[in-house]
Amino acid sequence: MGEQEHSAGRRAAAPTQIGKYELLGEIGRGACGVVFKGFDPFLQREVALKVALHGADPERARGRGFFAEARAAGLLQHPHIVALYDAGVEAELSYLVMEYVDGHTLQPLCRPAGPRAPLAQILDIAFKSAKALDYAHGRGVLHRDIKPSNIMLTRDGVPKLMDFSIAEITGRSAVPGEARGVLGSPLYMSPEQIRRERLGPASDLYSLGAVLFQLLAGVPPFQEPDIPRLFRAIRHTPAPRLCELKPELPVAVSEIIERLLLKDPAQRFQSGRELASTLSRLFDRLRVADRQVSRRESHDSLRRLRFFSAFSDEEIDEILGASQMVTYSPGEALIREGEIDTAFFIMALGRAEIRKRGKLLHLLDKGDCVGEIGFLSTHKRTATVIATTRVLALKVNASRLEQTTRDCQLRFYKVFAETLIYRLSIASARLSAQP
Ligand SMILES: Nc1ncnc2c1ncn2[C@@H]1O[C@H](COP(=O)(O)OP(=O)(O)OP(=O)(O)O)[C@@H](O)[C@H]1O
Ligand SMILES: [Mg+2]
Repeated sequence: MGEQEHSAGRRAAAPTQIGKYELLGEIGRGACGVVFKGFDPFLQREVALKVALHGADPERARGRGFFAEARAAGLLQHPHIVALYDAGVEAELSYLVMEYVDGHTLQPLCRPAGPRAPLAQILDIAFKSAKALDYAHGRGVLHRDIKPSNIMLTRDGVPKLMDFSIAEITGRSAVPGEARGVLGSPLYMSPEQIRRERLGPASDLYSLGAVLFQLLAGVPPFQEPDIPRLFRAIRHTPAPRLCELKPELPVAVSEIIERLLLKDPAQRFQSGRELASTLSRLFDRLRVADRQVSRRESHDSLRRLRFFSAFSDEEIDEILGASQMVTYSPGEALIREGEIDTAFFIMALGRAEIRKRGKLLHLLDKGDCVGEIGFLSTHKRTATVIATTRVLALKVNASRLEQTTRDCQLRFYKVFAETLIYRLSIASARLSAQP
């Protein structure tokens, strides 16, 4: 391992190289090692190097354990698993070389006072982690140490599990015993891991459940002042119900976490795949619920517009089925002069202006309709409509409107006629006011 030469001639402790890898600086520290950002000069890529500082026995590392585990973890190639590229022993140090992830771990999203990730993102993390675990378990590799600091999120929010079976590789036992003092956090250990029983896929799923619990609630499922009480609680106390801590969460989400945290591994989800498919059914249900809410909100917001004052509730629902809500940023055009398009718009929110050859004709506000001439005549658009604020508008297409009931259509024609009469009266007032 090379060391930095200082001008004063004194040797600094910061290493600059390990094996063939250049060390670019420390990026993190765990219980038994330091993580450096590094560079692989042969493959010309950034890497992360995890160097075990103490506790790792190079003899043991050279033996079966270290390389067998590293080999097993190195076989994993999955979009949601940090790839392990290489492992080596140099002098008294053993090190692992892995994919460098530009992002952060889940730790900041797990703090009680920290930011809570949106539910959709937490479910996405759960789904992708479940797929990654299923993949690893299918290849005979258990993680054994799922916790917030072992799940990274890239800058784009893509989760990646890391440190598969690393507890074994770095000479640190994930099973509590004499090694208790050097354990990272036991907050996520499954009851069977505490009992030193055989671990299986359901053990990793328990730990994932504990992490998800904390992402959602801001606290882990069990919090006790000392390790013996914590271990007793994990073994014997049922996990608190999330829906009682966070009543705003969908009950189905709370039920999934509860099932992951059951004491008996046989009662949990049996595989990452089972968890992932339950989550994907939940996405669909939540999306439908979301659509229903937004439809009710749209209905209520249309009801409040004067355009719809003469429409019945059923007719408003009919219109919602035949149209779409569209948003525009300030400066964006709803309608362009010269184009042929038969849609018309009812402004639900915001303001816009009608311009003809650049000249301002009319200001539009919430509840106004626009584009009805194009709809009625199917001629080229005679003016441009530009949003001046953020606009939410109901866009109705001619062919869709024709599918609504006669009564509904008649009401539209009536409001259009009133709008046209109003615009005409303004135009003629302007004309007669001109000298
Ligand atoms: N592949 C990687 N890419 C980018 N950053 C990483 C990578 N691996 C680790 N880190 C950073 O290094 C920090 C320390 O990781 P490390 O695995 O050593 O400790 P830990 O998981 O917090 O604790 P423990 O030693 O108990 O596993 C992480 O929190 C993360 O910020
Ligand atoms: Mg780690």
